[in-house]
Amino acid sequence: MGITQSTTNISDLDWLSFLTTSIDDPNARLILAFASAIALGSIVSAVRSRSNTTTRLRGPPSESLIWGVAKKVPLTEHAAAQYTAWEAEYGPGAYRIPFTLGKEKIVLFDARAIAHFFAMDNTVYIKTAQSRSVLRNLAGEGILWAEGDVHRRQRKVLSPAFTNAAIRSLNPIFYDCAYKCKDTWDTLTKNGEALIEVQDWMNNISIDAIGLAGFSHDFNTLGGDRAGAVDAFDATGANAPASFTNMLPLLLLVFPWLDKLPSPNKKRMNQFNDALNDLSERVWKKLKDEGAGDVSEKSIVGRLLRAESSDTSLQLSKHEVIDEIKVMIIAGYITTSTSLTWALIELAKNPDAQARLRTEITQFSDEDPSYEDLVGDKLPYLDAVTHETLRLHPSVPELTRVAAVDDIIPLSAPVTDASGRTVDRISIAKGTLVGCPITAVNRSPAFWGADALEFRPGRWIEGVEKGSAKDLTGHRHLLTFASGPRTCIGKGFAIAEFKTVLAVLVRNFTFDIEGGKSHKVTITRGSSLPGRKIFGENGKFLALKVSRVA
Ligand code: HEM
Ligand SMILES: *[C@@H]1O[C@H](CO)[C@@H](O)[C@H](O)[C@H]1NC(C)=O
Ligand SMILES: *[C@@H]1O[C@H](CO)[C@@H](O)[C@H](O)[C@H]1NC(C)=O
Ligand SMILES: *[C@@H]1O[C@H](CO)[C@@H](O)[C@H](O)[C@H]1NC(C)=O
Repeated sequence: MGITQSTTNISDLDWLSFLTTSIDDPNARLILAFASAIALGSIVSAVRSRSNTTTRLRGPPSESLIWGVAKKVPLTEHAAAQYTAWEAEYGPGAYRIPFTLGKEKIVLFDARAIAHFFAMDNTVYIKTAQSRSVLRNLAGEGILWAEGDVHRRQRKVLSPAFTNAAIRSLNPIFYDCAYKCKDTWDTLTKNGEALIEVQDWMNNISIDAIGLAGFSHDFNTLGGDRAGAVDAFDATGANAPASFTNMLPLLLLVFPWLDKLPSPNKKRMNQFNDALNDLSERVWKKLKDEGAGDVSEKSIVGRLLRAESSDTSLQLSKHEVIDEIKVMIIAGYITTSTSLTWALIELAKNPDAQARLRTEITQFSDEDPSYEDLVGDKLPYLDAVTHETLRLHPSVPELTRVAAVDDIIPLSAPVTDASGRTVDRISIAKGTLVGCPITAVNRSPAFWGADALEFRPGRWIEGVEKGSAKDLTGHRHLLTFASGPRTCIGKGFAIAEFKTVLAVLVRNFTFDIEGGKSHKVTITRGSSLPGRKIFGENGKFLALKVSRVA
């Protein structure tokens, strides 16, 4: 389906018939029809205003006027195989893909190019108007949305609350959350074993941890409370993959204002937003009232409020505090719980790795590992399992930015352009979309070896630096937390929580998956969007067989 670019006479009618045949949702159809009417105009003006040119790289032909080839790379981890196939055909190093409504996107696979791209984040390469519009609607004008000097200031204000010392003081909270889960599982498995939808539990561990450690609020979802602020959020992904909802973010890349129109998830998102505003307001009041009290010191926001800064430009206003609370939920909740869920799935599929991890933890001590033990080198296999999971299943599957000015991207090895010439750097014209396919690079055999697609924690014990992965930028050469000025500020928080939860659960329970290694698991919405769900082979939410360790 779809119209290929070889179709010569495309009338508005063709556009409409394409729309009506491929999209079921009437609401969506209306929006798309509206969008396509304006599309041609914008393509024409984009072409006219371009003076400096982007190096014409090789790449796949367009398959549809509306989508380019974007439909082949939805924002889930499934896009990785497609990016890798194009890399093999049109790379190596970099290629271009025709994107929505005539835009093109430069895809980077070369280590030096990727390092440059991330180093220039926030200066040369900035978030698209679309992603900023979505982020602002969801999370206000906090650090996720801010750019330039505003971003640099917010980063400076927040950083002291994310140091090792700060995270160490939060680690007991991660243990409490892990134990609440463990205690209920003890009951559920009293007859030996139980089928458990682990994602639901990891979500609740993650939101309870963000609430307490992020801003001293107890959602207590593990204790049976409903968290109104996140219910609506979770509901957006409650249905099986809907193609329009998955593709909407791509369309928004071209039409930021689409976001202002009513869309299928809009109502829920508004509910989510209202609940979040309400919650943030209450949290702010509570933290303010408690002022010098104990509670406030034991959370990120509490710490920020207590920090006496003589420099008034580094103090947070009320609305900024409220926006950062939202940011933590948006940036830290689903990202962490999806990663934890994948860890349990991979361990269920790889019983040897699971057994080795359990041995390491039980032999280490009868007591719970301390924060230093968890993040230091005392538990190498736990560290290996953590990073192997983050490598294979990065919760942000790709990043796309737009060039704010003309740029030259350096390469570690020359690439061949569309005319067959060899070029040793890529010119980028202002306005060009440039992206890094994070999952595909994390799984690339060129960097990680022939077994790159396998879950093999042992590679971290042997030392990934031995291969060409060492050329990659990012935390432990992974692009999972991005890199550069906008690298994930919550990385230490996420890793400490991840390791704590795994240590507690793997010590006490074994995990099995029906069909073992061959069980096909799918995920909808792999991006930093809400409502990600991991499905099992039967199309239902994934349940693992959880048994007590004898
Ligand atoms: C495994 C879990 C996590 C992953 C994979 C992850 C990944 C990322 C990535 C890729 C970015 C860059 C996004 C972009 O620039 O478009 C990012 C930014 C960010 N993350 Fe995380 N994250 C995780 C957990 C957390 C947690 C737990 C928190 C907070 C408690 C957090 C807070 C943030 C913030 C505030 C930013 C924006 C930083 C900036 O723009 O300067 N993240 N994260
Ligand atoms: C084109 O590139 C040159 C040199 O990089 C720069 O000085 C000029 O401003 C650019 N023109 C536009 C329209 O961006
Ligand atoms: C997780 O929390 C939600 C409320 O936000 C609740 O409906 C659900 O039952 C909880 N699940 C578990 C396993 O605790
Ligand atoms: C469960 O974990 C706790 C500490 O995490 C430990 O004391 C206990 O022995 C474990 N139970 C089993 C059966 O391993």
